[in-house]
Amino acid sequence: MICYIASDHAGFEVKDFAKEILLKKGYIVEDLGPKSAERVDYPDFAEKVAMKVAQNQNSFGVLICGTGIGMSIAANKVKGIRAALCHDAYTAAMARAHNDANILCFGERVVGKGVIESIIDAWSKTEFEGGRHAGRVEKIMNLEQ
Ligand code: RB5
Repeated sequence: MICYIASDHAGFEVKDFAKEILLKKGYIVEDLGPKSAERVDYPDFAEKVAMKVAQNQNSFGVLICGTGIGMSIAANKVKGIRAALCHDAYTAAMARAHNDANILCFGERVVGKGVIESIIDAWSKTEFEGGRHAGRVEKIMNLEQ
């Protein structure tokens, strides 16, 4: 399973921390930038990760900005993407179990490193439950124009 990760300047500081956790969990991690904490526009990096995830079924994405809000809004514009803004282990687990989310978003200015670790842990351990949730996810995907 490959994980595409990116941030903007406001998420840059914890990007390497998140990468380390993902690598320890055995994922192949591809960092799509940025390479420095210089000011950038989050939609550019949301697009990079979302396009990769949309093209590769056996992948997921991680997007980090200040709040996670801009990244999730932008990533959800790409066909095939279900990006979820998560604040804790519970929301991360539900994003996978009920929404079959394929991109995890969080905010560096919102959550600390301990919470980030628990978010990634919950995300990685949780499978989509399917069943009654499958039809709802299908309805979401049918909203795409
Ligand atoms: C950058 O200042 C900030 O607006 C961005 O990282 C993000 O939080 C947007 O949603």
